[in-house]
Amino acid sequence: MPSDRLYLAPLRGLTDVVFRTVFSRHFKGFDLAVAPFISTVSAPRVKPSLFKDILPERNRAMPVVPQLLSNDPEGFIRMARRIADLGYGEINLNLGCPFPMVAKKGRGSGMLPFPDRVAAFLDRVAPAIPCALSIKTRLGFHGADEIYRLMPVFNQYPLSELIFHPRTGIQMYGGRPDLDTFSDCLAESALPVIYNGDIRSPAAFLYLKHRFPAVRGWMIGRGALADPFLAEHLKAGSEKIPPDSTRFRVFQEDLFRAYDAILSGPAHTVDRMKGFWYYFSQSFPENRRDIKKILRSKSPDGYRDAVSTFFDADPVWRPAASEPLTGGCLED
Ligand SMILES: Cc1cc2nc3c(=O)[nH]c(=O)nc-3n(C[C@H](O)[C@H](O)[C@H](O)COP(=O)(O)O)c2cc1C
Repeated sequence: MPSDRLYLAPLRGLTDVVFRTVFSRHFKGFDLAVAPFISTVSAPRVKPSLFKDILPERNRAMPVVPQLLSNDPEGFIRMARRIADLGYGEINLNLGCPFPMVAKKGRGSGMLPFPDRVAAFLDRVAPAIPCALSIKTRLGFHGADEIYRLMPVFNQYPLSELIFHPRTGIQMYGGRPDLDTFSDCLAESALPVIYNGDIRSPAAFLYLKHRFPAVRGWMIGRGALADPFLAEHLKAGSEKIPPDSTRFRVFQEDLFRAYDAILSGPAHTVDRMKGFWYYFSQSFPENRRDIKKILRSKSPDGYRDAVSTFFDADPVWRPAASEPLTGGCLED
């Protein structure tokens, strides 16, 4: 029986605790979220503020797995112990971050060309942390063939899960997920596998679920921002388009209020909201002009006016097309 377990992907600067909390007030569907990464620090003293996104008292709305970005086993162990002390039973290691500032230092996807370094890291870390360890990985940094040298390494450790985003680091977020190589990884994995990448529609989800029945869960990031109803629909097994934009309107107002309450200054709230509207806009292809006004607004008043104009025009909700699904890759 294929699994319908859904994970909200970590999107740094977007799916933080404020978003996760507000999202859960308005939409259903996700079973858990992996939190955006926290970088480990080499100093023995770890500032408590580093953990503010994952404090349990702020994370009651949705179960969370904290994620660490690190190539320093000692720093990882120190921070993992602190996180376990907060009550978490699992920590995710980020082996996917593609950004040059990170990858050049051999962290995130920058570690993938070096299976020996991955093995040395896991040798030290896996037995030393008081909680389960999972990994979120790409297929490689330079090329997808790197994963064939990594799978035997991953398989040696008692990892709770392997989450695959089947792109390479240099692909960043462009091109398509490589489903053929993912298929090989799934066959070779001795560990439970989660799929992540470009699930933007019920049709894409159904295709993946039927092609990969052994997958234990599905992680969705950008697709859930573009269409906050998506996880709910996937769980309901329905392809129905949300009937009205009222729920969405109330949700984005709530999100604005929640950020305004914690960010220092309304300009920051507007900037933060514009980050979300970049994704929301993808479900309203017929309302580009009004959305441009939102994205160009600078002041809270300008932002509010632009948002009102957008909703007053009865925007047409048209989430990602559902064609896809041939060959080895998900279509755009
Ligand atoms: C803005 C942004 C921030 C991201 N931050 C993280 C992160 O903190 N940790 C991580 O593992 N992946 C991060 N990712 C990658 C996503 O979790 C996910 O793997 C990727 O977007 C593909 O899934 P999607 O097509 O469902 O969005 C980020 C992606 C984006 C676009």
